[in-house]
Amino acid sequence: MLARFFSLITFCLFVQIVNAQVSIIPEPVSIVTPAGKFNAGKQITIAAPADANPVAAQLKERLSNSGISCTVVPDNSKASISFIINKVANTSIGKEGYQLTVGEGGVTVTANTNAGLFYGIQTLLQLFPADVEKENGLNNTEISLPYAEITDYPRFGWRGLMFDVSRHFFTKKEVKDFIDQMVKYKYNILHWHLTDDEGWRVEINSLPKLTSVGAWNVKKEGYFGTFTPPTPDEPRNYGGFYTQEDIKEVVAYAKERFVDILPEVDVPGHSLAAITAYPELSCSNGKDNHGVCSGESIKDWNTHTALVDDNLCPANENVYVFLDKVFTEIAQLFPFEYIHTGGDETFKTYWERSDAVKALMKKEGLKNMEEVQSYFSKRVEKIVESKGKKFMGWDEILEGGLAPNAVVMSWRGMKGGIEAAKQNHEVVMSPTDFAYLDYVQGNKIMEPRVYASLRLKKAYQFEPVPDGVDPKFIKGGQGNIWTEQMYNTRHLQYMVWPRAFAVAEAVWSPKAKRDWKTFIPRVEEHFKRFDAAQIKYAPAIYEPDVTVSKNANGETVVTLIPEIDGLSIHYSFDNTFPDNFYPVYSAPVTAPKDAVMMRIVSYKEGKQVGRMITMPMDELKKMVKK
Ligand code: ACM
Repeated sequence: MLARFFSLITFCLFVQIVNAQVSIIPEPVSIVTPAGKFNAGKQITIAAPADANPVAAQLKERLSNSGISCTVVPDNSKASISFIINKVANTSIGKEGYQLTVGEGGVTVTANTNAGLFYGIQTLLQLFPADVEKENGLNNTEISLPYAEITDYPRFGWRGLMFDVSRHFFTKKEVKDFIDQMVKYKYNILHWHLTDDEGWRVEINSLPKLTSVGAWNVKKEGYFGTFTPPTPDEPRNYGGFYTQEDIKEVVAYAKERFVDILPEVDVPGHSLAAITAYPELSCSNGKDNHGVCSGESIKDWNTHTALVDDNLCPANENVYVFLDKVFTEIAQLFPFEYIHTGGDETFKTYWERSDAVKALMKKEGLKNMEEVQSYFSKRVEKIVESKGKKFMGWDEILEGGLAPNAVVMSWRGMKGGIEAAKQNHEVVMSPTDFAYLDYVQGNKIMEPRVYASLRLKKAYQFEPVPDGVDPKFIKGGQGNIWTEQMYNTRHLQYMVWPRAFAVAEAVWSPKAKRDWKTFIPRVEEHFKRFDAAQIKYAPAIYEPDVTVSKNANGETVVTLIPEIDGLSIHYSFDNTFPDNFYPVYSAPVTAPKDAVMMRIVSYKEGKQVGRMITMPMDELKKMVKK
């Protein structure tokens, strides 16, 4: 009896160990992990039909990078990994789905298309040890893979990340690296925000000043948005742009990885780079001669007033000629069927002052500035459609009346998306509340300052289909990465991960399979993969949020709010560095009267997991809720 009991315990432990090795993000539709492992040995052969060779080559490259000796052979050969393309489509898994089996006989990935095989590979790689992500990490290693039976397909066809390369320029190589990272989590749309007040990043042959002038500003560091205005003698040599050859190369690179690129040219607002290049495009003819923004204040965000004219002039026919030229070349460069034309945050200050706009309103019977913007959007829609593309914009394009076929990207919450879907328009959801990956994700006192905050836990609650909306209008969702405060690619990675895991799961996994409790252990397993790949991520889940109050005696009381279970948080008020021998936080603590700082640090299972956070008492006292 006792022996039976122990064998049961051993069996349970074994199953647990096996399951611990299977941490897939995004969570598949269905996954069974029988006990057992397939030993692939030190060399891997991939059998693939000729059509699937490009995908097999990508798996080979990934495995070879990790030091595994790997060959691709024809599909009738004996192999450790076999790719099968269904002769008769399996409609239950669709265009992008796959079935993956790891069993005694090896690995089989079956799909209707190469895209499906590609996503099967991403899952398969997550069954490999974390060192598959490390250069030469599995060199001379016996590979064993846990048995698994997986059926998987995406919930949405639009699984995007928006990457702003205007506020800070990121090189072609950095964009390709970004694509490599996103496809591991089955994203399939790169929304490329190519133009803004701080830089125009795409070469337009017929308008060369857009990049010779518009791509360059003055390098500044500190808090973007508050920089000192550049002086005339400061060199405008910071920034850059992509040549048309660069763009074609990135588009092809993305396509090989089943990613479509949605180009965004943000008009009529956010256009200071274009206006600096061609001042006659603004209603004020660029009279303030401001120059491409370098991160100095050009807008009053409280009153929505423009301090500098950064809008194209809707009453100037030459603006539409300009846009026709731009979208002609954009349409040729980007094969994706949609073009995003921005439309957000168009502060109307200079339009209101413009006689030309007043005359346009009279002529067209436009009652207010929203209708002026709507007039502009409808004209831009016609231009975009004349290039054979679909017109898309941020949810401000709803104001004053939506253009007839517009696709709406909802960012100011979900309400714009709901309204557009109710008007039978296609919608992509990317609400600030859940999907803004530029927001602060951890302890506000320590993190680089951004005006709002979004914890991983909140991002994980992203649900793209609101109640009462016909799901057929919701194409999917995306996370947005605005780079005002992201000066380099390491910090970009830090801001994107792990929150992009949460968004990936919102747009790929079935709603019913999403579970915060099982998500976190998977996230932690993927941290190991990121460590192996040397890709940065934020450890913010280990670092509690803080609230501060005053008790009846006027003393300051600090409450720590951990984001995940299982942490032991230690603290000090004596300016020294707490470790796991220091007092453990278990309930709100009253700060000693003379304390000047509180320091906290988190441990999990005896190991330090969070960073040491120093919180000056002055800062904490400012946080007291009134
Ligand atoms: C936006 O965040 N301004 C679309």
